[in-house]
Amino acid sequence: MLTVPLVIIGAGGFGREALDVVAAMNETHRNRFEIVGVVDSAPSLVNISRLEDRGISYLGTETEWLSNGNDASFVVGVGDPIMRSTIAARWIDAGRSPVTLVHPSAIVGGMSTIGAGSVVCAGVQISTNVRLGEYVHLNPNVTVGHDSALERCVSINPGAIVSGEVQIGTGSLVGAGAVILAGLNIGRDSVVGAAACVVRDVEASTVVKGVPAR
Ligand SMILES: CC(C)(COP(=O)(O)OP(=O)(O)OC[C@H]1O[C@@H](n2cnc3c(N)ncnc32)[C@H](O)[C@@H]1OP(=O)(O)O)[C@@H](O)C(=O)NCCC(=O)NCCS
Repeated sequence: MLTVPLVIIGAGGFGREALDVVAAMNETHRNRFEIVGVVDSAPSLVNISRLEDRGISYLGTETEWLSNGNDASFVVGVGDPIMRSTIAARWIDAGRSPVTLVHPSAIVGGMSTIGAGSVVCAGVQISTNVRLGEYVHLNPNVTVGHDSALERCVSINPGAIVSGEVQIGTGSLVGAGAVILAGLNIGRDSVVGAAACVVRDVEASTVVKGVPAR
């Protein structure tokens, strides 16, 4: 199998979570990826040192990296959906290609599809006939029920449960441990608070929290 040179964008928590997914995939897929390093336009010193501790190179800012001609593929390891969308567009404009990461411990049901640039972490369960758009992030132990569709740049935080036949619009974020009941629509650019239980549709650009979520 061809080894793909890969740059992770983002030295923060999710960027390094993506490194874990790559490491696990490399164990089961015979070194599928060569991690070139991590790019971040404003990394904290503590995160640079966390990269150093695991032997990963910090490659500089996006501008520095994108001007150097290296055409390694990319994954955006940034949890914020709006920032992720902007970064992905910039790297596509610069002629770079996204890769899709799926942790080997994730379960992906029949007829389910995962868009380019998405990251599916350890312990995720994707049921049958689910559609994930581009650059979707599913954090550890997320469940996505049958026949659901998550559009571009949706983020589902750890342990959240998306029931069956749920639609989640572009750029929305579902907080850790939240539950979305079956058949509901979450409009684009919305936020569901951590531990919320969503029992009715959520309009676009709306923040809901609590049980039941309001
Ligand atoms: C709901 C949320 C989006 C609100 O963010 P915010 O607008 O910055 O809210 P604030 O922190 O200013 O809190 C505003 C009020 O909402 C309450 N609140 C915050 N988050 C809440 C939640 N998840 N459920 C219930 N109430 C919440 C606060 O206690 C505060 O109440 P008060 O006005 O009575 O003091 C955010 O708290 C959240 O839950 N985001 C998801 C984060 C997540 O999943 N993190 C895990 C990452 S791995």
